[in-house]
Amino acid sequence: MKVAVVGGTGDFGLALAERLVEAGVDVVVGSRDAARAAEKAETIGARGAANEDAVRGVDLVVLAVKSDAALPTAEGLAGAIGDTPVLSVASELRFTKQGVFPTDEARSIAERTQELLHGPVCAGLHSLAAASLAHGPAEGDALVCGDDADAKALALELAARVVTGRALDAGPLASARALEGVTAVIVNLNKRYKGHAGLHVTGLP
Ligand SMILES: NC(=O)c1ccc[n+]([C@@H]2O[C@H](COP(=O)([O-])OP(=O)(O)OC[C@H]3O[C@@H](n4cnc5c(N)ncnc54)[C@H](OP(=O)(O)O)[C@@H]3O)[C@@H](O)[C@H]2O)c1
Repeated sequence: MKVAVVGGTGDFGLALAERLVEAGVDVVVGSRDAARAAEKAETIGARGAANEDAVRGVDLVVLAVKSDAALPTAEGLAGAIGDTPVLSVASELRFTKQGVFPTDEARSIAERTQELLHGPVCAGLHSLAAASLAHGPAEGDALVCGDDADAKALALELAARVVTGRALDAGPLASARALEGVTAVIVNLNKRYKGHAGLHVTGLP
């Protein structure tokens, strides 16, 4: 599998890219700045490229830019991404004195990303904190949702390589509304218990 991580220079994208390289996946780290991409990619034994070059000729694009840049980035790369499936990992969070809040938006970033792209969008990995991925596969399961069966199979294959547990199909892309909120829950748990929370789904065969 060939994977481009757009925004792969960030905490989450680089940790994900490193775990994928370890798992034998051909990874391109993308950045707005080709030199920064190359520099970060070199630290994990991957290739680096400007985002618009990184997304060409891969099987799956992971959109891992800062969450408020996800929609404009998807729009700007739509031509270069073409029909290639995209995995959205973004969550909109609001940091307050009372804790971390999910977005007030009714529709998920992933669903809004889908409207901007020609190929299928999946969403997932929202329960994996960058810190949990930084030194090895994240503990627990990974949830992935999407409407396109082939794209979701690819995203699940990727997810299975970066967690100690299972990659689980959480249903249609509309499930992203709940999954994106899970990031806020995980961040609140980590703050409250000073840990690295993950999810483990029980009761499945
Ligand atoms: N951090 C976590 O624990 C975690 C967990 C689950 C999901 N996520 C999701 O993963 C994504 C990345 O999170 P992160 O913490 O790694 O974010 P980040 O470090 O703040 O940003 C990631 C990358 O986004 C790019 N970027 C920043 N501003 C941009 C802009 N205006 N336009 C285009 N690209 C821009 C930067 O790459 P260049 O400057 O090199 O282009 C940066 O390295 C987010 O959507 C987040 O919701 C994060």
